Amino acid sequence: MRELKLSRAFTLIESGPVILVTTHDGRKDNIMTISWTMVLDFTPAFAIATGEWNHSFAALRKNRECVIAVPTVDLLDKVVGIGTCSGADTDKFAKFRLTPVQGKVVRAPLIRQCLANIECKVVDIVKKHNIVVLQAVAASIDAARREKRTVHAVGDGTFIVDGRRIDRRKMMASKLPYGV
Ligand SMILES: Cc1cc2nc3c(=O)[nH]c(=O)nc-3n(C[C@H](O)[C@H](O)[C@H](O)COP(=O)(O)O)c2cc1C
Repeated sequence: MRELKLSRAFTLIESGPVILVTTHDGRKDNIMTISWTMVLDFTPAFAIATGEWNHSFAALRKNRECVIAVPTVDLLDKVVGIGTCSGADTDKFAKFRLTPVQGKVVRAPLIRQCLANIECKVVDIVKKHNIVVLQAVAASIDAARREKRTVHAVGDGTFIVDGRRIDRRKMMASKLPYGV
């Protein structure tokens, strides 16, 4: 993994892939799957929709940090498995044979097998709508990884894999932040 400029971190999830969110509750690492995500700005800030029904939420609320790990299509069965069991009774790093890696800023671990990892601080929890607002503080990417296609949840148990990338950078130049 090499460091990724924080100013580019939003490009990892602007396209709306399913993500993994890791937490550390003071005793154990955990992972959950999240498809309800949103990029809020270029700083970059993000929002995820989750709440008390997930074991991870207590750690998010208590320690106010997490890692957004971006999985690729080869990890899809692990992604679904992680999202259908609970850290309350399962060590998901062991069960899904994933490698936790110490981040630069937060205690929650990066996931070695993922394409990229974004370390985040929890800056707000909008209880009424179960929205957790995150501020990215560091990012890293495995640029050498061959499989780079992310997956997008339809919401009915099916998924769409990334397809062709189309370049409209010139047309969008006035809307793109410097250096992206
Ligand atoms: C494809 C997929 C997408 C999911 N998206 C979300 C989501 O956006 N928000 C949420 O709260 N739970 C979502 N889940 C469910 C959680 O990942 C699931 O409840 C998980 O078991 C929580 O783990 P934990 O209890 O260890 O925190 C999703 C699950 C799957 C399989």
